[in-house]
Formats: sequence, C-alpha cells, structure tokens
Amino acid sequence: MDKVTIFDTTLRDGEQAAGGTLNIQEKLEIARQLETLGVDIIEAGFPVTSPGDFEAVKRIAQEIRTPVICVLTHANLAAVDQSWEAVKGAKQPCIHIVLSSSDTHLFYQLRKSRDEILEMSCSTVARAKKYVNNVEFSAMDASRTDPEYIYQLLKAVIDTGATTVNIPDTVGYAMPDEFGQLIEGVFKNVPNIDQAMVSVHCHNDLGLAVANSLEALKRGARQVEGTINGIGERAGNASLEEIIMAIQTRQDFYNLTTSIDTKQIYKTSRLVSELTGFPVQPNKAIVGANAFRHSSGLHQDGVIKMRGTFEIMDPKSIGMPASSLVLGKTSGRHGFREHLAELGYSLSEADFDRAFTAFKELADKKPEITDRDIESLVAEEKRTVSQVYHLDRLQVTCGDRGIPTAAIRLIGPEGQILADASLGTGPVDAVYKAINRLVGVSNTLTEFSVKSVTEGIDAIGEVLIRIESEGITYTGRGADTDIIVASAKAYINALNRLLADNQKS
Ligand code: KIV
Ligand code: ZN
Repeated sequence: MDKVTIFDTTLRDGEQAAGGTLNIQEKLEIARQLETLGVDIIEAGFPVTSPGDFEAVKRIAQEIRTPVICVLTHANLAAVDQSWEAVKGAKQPCIHIVLSSSDTHLFYQLRKSRDEILEMSCSTVARAKKYVNNVEFSAMDASRTDPEYIYQLLKAVIDTGATTVNIPDTVGYAMPDEFGQLIEGVFKNVPNIDQAMVSVHCHNDLGLAVANSLEALKRGARQVEGTINGIGERAGNASLEEIIMAIQTRQDFYNLTTSIDTKQIYKTSRLVSELTGFPVQPNKAIVGANAFRHSSGLHQDGVIKMRGTFEIMDPKSIGMPASSLVLGKTSGRHGFREHLAELGYSLSEADFDRAFTAFKELADKKPEITDRDIESLVAEEKRTVSQVYHLDRLQVTCGDRGIPTAAIRLIGPEGQILADASLGTGPVDAVYKAINRLVGVSNTLTEFSVKSVTEGIDAIGEVLIRIESEGITYTGRGADTDIIVASAKAYINALNRLLADNQKS
C-alpha cells in the first residue's frame, strides 16, 4: 500500500477564511493537536503577510518537531528570504512558493508573460534551495491553465530543485474526471516528474474539493492538501478528515494508507471549530453532530440488529465520545479527572482545579452532565485564563414593560474591581454598553449567535460573537447556562483579544 502525505493548511489557507483570525497561542494549540493527529506537514502560515503570522510561524517552527513545518511565500526573492527567517528554526523546514500559471491570472492580475512567470518561478525556487532542500512549488489556478504550459513550468521548477510540485484547483472549478486527467497528464508529460512529489490542493466552490482530491490520488498524486473541517477561502478547502476516512474506509478501493491517528480526528475538529469560531454543520461528513445518528425507525432497527446495516464507520474510530449521560452532582474529583482523561484532556493542577469548580457549579444547575457539557466547560476555563478583564458579577432586568438595564462588575488588569451600569434596547445591548463604559475600546459588533450545547431547557448556551476594530475581526466565545452571562463572557473574550493585539503593536 502506498502512503499518502497529509499536508495540513488549516493555519494558512484555513485562517484565510473571512473572520477566522487566530492569535499566536491559538495557532500553537492547533499545531500541537495537528502533531498529535499525525499530519506529515503543517503549513504554519504566510509570514510575509503580517508580523503576527511571522511570529506564529517562528514559534511553531521552534516547538513542533515531528511534522515538516512549511511556510507559504510569494514568488519574490525578498519574500523568500523573509520566509526563511520565520521557518529556519524548524527541525524539518520547507518553503512553499506560489505563483499563478493561468492566462486569466497572468493577463488580468499579474500582467506578465508566460516566459516571465517561468523565470520568476525558477529564480525563487533557486533562492529557496540556498536555504533548504525541501521546496514546494504551486502553480496557482493550475486547473484553468493550458496543460502544456503546466508541464513546461513543472519541468523547469523540478530541474531547478523543487521537491514537491502542487497542482491546485484554486477556484474550485474542476470536475473530478477532468482534474484526474490533468494529474495523469502531468505524470505522462513532465519528463522529470519522478524526481518530485506530486501534490494536489482543491477548493470547494462547487462542493467537489474532496472528490477532486480523491480522484487525483487514484491517478497517482501522493500528497494531498486540505484543512480540518474544510475551512478556508470562500467555500473552503478539501476537508482533510473526509479524505483520510475515505482512504481508510475504502482501502479496498484506493489501496492507500496515511500516518494519521484517526482517533484524534474528532478532538482536532472540535478544537479548530472552537478557536476559529466556525461551527461544524450538523450534517457534515465524519465530524458533524448527526454524522453517526440514526433517526428513522427503519435505520435504528437495522443498527440495533447489526451496526453495519447502516453504519460504514465506527464513531470510535474518529474518537467521537459516546453521548451517554456521564456525571452529576455527586461525582467527585477522581471521577471528573478520569472522565477528562477519557475525553483526551490532560490539564495542569491549576487548570484542573478551576475546571472542577466550574463543573460543580454547573452540576448544581444541571443534574445530568454530558461529554459535550464538559468540553464546553473546559473550553470556557481555558479561554479565561490569560484574559486581562474578567467577568465578576452581572445583573440584568428586562421584559416587555421595563427598560432593559444591566449592572456589571469586572476584574481589571491589576485585579481592581470596576463597576458600572447601562440601559439598552435589550438585555444583551445593555450588558455590552455597560462593558463598553468600563473597558472603553471602540469596536463594531458584526456577528452574534447563540446555540445550545445539548438538548434540554437546562442546557449550556454557547455564544459566538465577532467584533471589528480598525479593519480587524476578533472572535469571542462564552458559555454558561444563562445566555446573557454567556453573551457577556463572549464579549469580554473578544475585547481581551483586541486589547492583546493592541498591546503588541
Ligand atoms: O488555492 C491555492 O491555489 C493556494 C496555493 C497557495 C496553493 O492556496
Ligand atoms: Zn488554497
């Protein structure tokens, strides 16, 4: 069986998704989890685009040792030099150069000839080779490029030293058979193709990113690029968990393997969703909440008699926790600790103490606590640890007669107590205005959503908000059984991220 190299670009193309900005700590946390998942390559960022990305790549390169750490760069000599500075601390560094190849991009966007593109590609690959052996070249918009030109370009960059050539369907335009033919064409018509790894990178504009990627693997590509949960530019990238599970579930068809520990998929998906603020749709293949739920009587009957009647994968194989009721008011520290370990958490003593206190408070309000409750609670605790402002107390009055009013008490940067109150058009508006009076940072609220973690009137409510300040979007999340408290926590979380960013610059 041939091994497929899994190239994860959640931290680069995934982060390019509108509103998906991550801070350095969050990027590191995702990178650590990607390492545990077993991806072969982490594309850690696009360092020339921002000082924040440069720093994040540097930190990931220093800390994450098992996978290759790759950085994306424009085909420009100075950008290659700068990208190397970001990634040079990695144990296994890689520089990834991207340049458009389609006539549409050349004519309308770059205003360059094919010969000029060829020259820029080779000179930048040669520059990267001065620093590192592992150099990837991507012919952007390859699926809309004249195939003869692709062959010529790939031959030239391989001759110059590119060790991987990537064929992206940048705008998600290709059909599976057509994309497969392009890959086959590359193998047949690029004379030195045996000296490079052939990679594919598909976008999901027509919902075909996974299908196109799998078709390319069938036709000989051995590296596939994608993101967790399929996040990314526009309609996103190929969803890595779908590709990995397709390869594993249909080994009889593909005869391929990967180095992924599939039991880490669910945890990785939850973490990416949590930190980017992009929820996973319930019917999403592999990691959606309904992916292993059988609701029709006929299906349930079949599954009870024999799982394989309607289930092609075992939810345990992706590490999805059982949705049974687990803990309650009488559960002690030991049971809680063991349960956390079963869910894959290993918390420091201080984090554990805080999580246990929060668990006990929750158990007073909610008799039956599920795995999803615990995940939400741990996420909430982790979020608040490094915050500058903390919510201390909150009280609102609202209804159809009175004027919504909020009184709020925060703990400030030096541990000082700050209190104020405000009126609003509704309780959340009043809370946000009261917080604004205390924190005093101007911003615009661009998104607000509430969802419940589990069924039931006593469920934890999770609030996701996005605020914008000086053109930058900050995500905030908060969880509580009281959705007004969750809204306040989410807003404080977003403000803390904004303030942390302001402090850096
Ligand atoms: O979609 C694309 O073409 C890319 C390249 C950088 C590989 O993201
Ligand atoms: Zn892309």
